[in-house]
Amino acid sequence: MEDGNDEMLFIIIHQAYELWFKQILFELDLVRNIFIRGMINDNSDDMSRVVHRLKRVVKILELINQQVNVLETMTALDFLEFRNHLLPASGFQSKQFRLIEAKLGLKMEQRYKAEYYKHTRRGSLSEADSQEVNQVESESTLKGLIVQWLERMPFFDDGYWQDYKQSSAADDGKHQFWTDYRDAYQTSLSNNEKGRLSEFDKVFFDEGRGDVSPAAMRSALFITIYRNLPIFHLPFELLNTLSEIDELLSNWRYRHFMMVRRMIGIRVGTGGTSGAGYLEGTLSQHYAFREITEVATFLIERSKRPQLPNALKEKVSFNVP
Ligand code: HEM
Repeated sequence: MEDGNDEMLFIIIHQAYELWFKQILFELDLVRNIFIRGMINDNSDDMSRVVHRLKRVVKILELINQQVNVLETMTALDFLEFRNHLLPASGFQSKQFRLIEAKLGLKMEQRYKAEYYKHTRRGSLSEADSQEVNQVESESTLKGLIVQWLERMPFFDDGYWQDYKQSSAADDGKHQFWTDYRDAYQTSLSNNEKGRLSEFDKVFFDEGRGDVSPAAMRSALFITIYRNLPIFHLPFELLNTLSEIDELLSNWRYRHFMMVRRMIGIRVGTGGTSGAGYLEGTLSQHYAFREITEVATFLIERSKRPQLPNALKEKVSFNVP
């Protein structure tokens, strides 16, 4: 090698990433600790802190996506000069990256090629790191806490709905609002999408979606449709930011995968995976907030939304004396 600058760049980039991963973990812990308290007071600054800190995570993810450009100034031939000296080290050993995924709410059974994660040979996580990740997975994840928070939404308490003007025939078991919404959704579907109606029932009434319950899915949809109402501004920002985090992490996975293909083609990874093939697989599967993002499937146009009763509108508006 003429000089060691590429190897130095490789080391520095990895260390810079790990530092940012650490900051992300601090922010995720702060947010989780707020939700763990079980009650988020609308009059406190809890909700704005949650959104503010998650937006910081978004900014960090935007930054670390950019850093791939710097590493890509190294060519495949430059990398080959020192690749063998790295063996058996791999990005697969990044405990912090796994902790970020686990704290967000990605579960082992949702991982692409989950068997790769179960061994602790050289190039993988150590036994102790692996146990720590498993432990975090079993604790309150951000996703689990968000689901509980959505389930606690009080907007369907009977008291708010007495002056509601229903537009469709009552359907036993469903709140009248949802019967009306379901009708409007059905009308909005084109002929080749009619099957979506049974999906709607499944997601919002029978089973939920993924590991998000029907009640939580209903709240996520309600907040999304009526996001213009003052009390929903921050909850909507929160849901939107979670989708943004998923999207930016997946952008990173994509940039990393493309870079890996440029650097080592389709050779196997030093961490014992198939390499680029494995990374491409994670791209389609590793999302923490997919269900929240895919609420978009069930939206209707603003003008078709059921009119909310006044009692509820008052409850969700700022009441400045
Ligand atoms: C020349 C540059 C790089 C190459 C060729 C490369 C290659 C790979 C490969 C092949 C894998 C799959 C696991 C394996 O079998 O080893 C992997 C995983 C990973 N790499 Fe890299 N990598 C590079 C740079 C980086 C950088 C700069 C980071 C920054 C933190 C990073 C972080 C990771 C992480 C976190 C994983 C695990 C991803 C997952 O399981 O979803 N890599 N890398």
